Amino acid sequence: GHGKHVTVLGEQYPTDSMTNISPTIISKLPLRLHTQPSHPLSTLRALIESHFPSYAHLSSLSPLVTPHQNFDLLSFPQDHPGRSVTDSYYINKDLMLRTHTSAHEVEVFGRGETKWLLTADVYRRDEIDGSHYPVFHQTEGARILSADQTGMQEVEEDNARLTAHLERSNIIIEDVPHLSPTNPCQPAHDPKHTELIAKNLKLSLNSLMLQLFGGHVGSTAEDPLRVRWIEATFPWTTPSFEVEVFFRGKWLEILGCGVVRQATLDNSNVSNKLGWAFGLGLERIAMILYSIPDIRLFWSQDERFLSQFKQGEISTFKPYSRYPACFKDVSFWLPETSGLHENDFCDLVRDVAGDIAEDVKMIDSFTHPKTNRKSVCYRINYRSMDRSLSNDETNTLHAQVLSQLQDQFGVEIR
Ligand code: PHE
Repeated sequence: GHGKHVTVLGEQYPTDSMTNISPTIISKLPLRLHTQPSHPLSTLRALIESHFPSYAHLSSLSPLVTPHQNFDLLSFPQDHPGRSVTDSYYINKDLMLRTHTSAHEVEVFGRGETKWLLTADVYRRDEIDGSHYPVFHQTEGARILSADQTGMQEVEEDNARLTAHLERSNIIIEDVPHLSPTNPCQPAHDPKHTELIAKNLKLSLNSLMLQLFGGHVGSTAEDPLRVRWIEATFPWTTPSFEVEVFFRGKWLEILGCGVVRQATLDNSNVSNKLGWAFGLGLERIAMILYSIPDIRLFWSQDERFLSQFKQGEISTFKPYSRYPACFKDVSFWLPETSGLHENDFCDLVRDVAGDIAEDVKMIDSFTHPKTNRKSVCYRINYRSMDRSLSNDETNTLHAQVLSQLQDQFGVEIR
């Protein structure tokens, strides 16, 4: 018979048992907010690019990648949870939406780029609340150098310049060693070279943090910018780190980074080089810089949002009035054999209610002592950011959630 197809960015693709891309997600793919003039994400992208003027600036790679690009070429283990259909969006078993901009590292290194930034939309299945959205944006940055005297001298000169710049600035850095037993050098690399590269990575990113946050905190000696380095692990870098920035009394995780593993460079056909890579989440940073309180606002088409921003300018968002919230609960018995993943429930709610779904929380779950059947209760907060919803409208949306739940997953509503 005829197989089923799904249309994504104007092309048809065959579906299979892994297909889980939803209509809501398909509708986001052409939007590319990071390239919309005057959008906060576009200004933030340009600001980061201006900090690395000699780097190639890429921003038009397709979000469709193979699991091979997204995971295998970066040495993700076969059983990594990120590969599962509950965590990532698949067109079919051979094609998925990139879950991070690192999915392009091998390809871009393979083209011969040695200093580059890449900004793109990335996709992860997730819960629904004010700081999670299944589409967000990342900027990947990378630099590779020749693994010899010339390359190392270039790094040393750069390190001296960056150190001098940071010493003159109001920044306090909590560091960790470049290398440690839990964050080791690669066998194929000279530890002295790795130390210099890790130092270059840290200095480059401390200086970027100063550029991004320096105007808000860190402008005076009484209120310096505080940056904290933490050991991390990523399958394609070692040593690896995370960077946190102190903002309004809290440490916020801003980026992941590390010294690129030889296996990744080998996959790119790059020889006798070594270097670093980082990946930065843009929404987190833009929410701070612009005081944007809810991640859904980035997707707003409302003039009261869009007209507040100018390309190249960071300004404080002035919230317009918040409309009333409407909470509705749904309790149901889970299907006995298949169960239902929370991310499946959240995608269903987004497909019905779009950005009117502000928050989804499980408020109760219990297992019947005799029958062993499991029941859950979710509370959905419906609220539009642009207008007041009528009772009829929320009732209709909620009724659709209930009927879709029954149709798609065969649950029994209580
Ligand atoms: N891709 C990683 C993430 O999304 C970040 C990262 C980029 C880490 C490059 C190391 C090197 O969390």
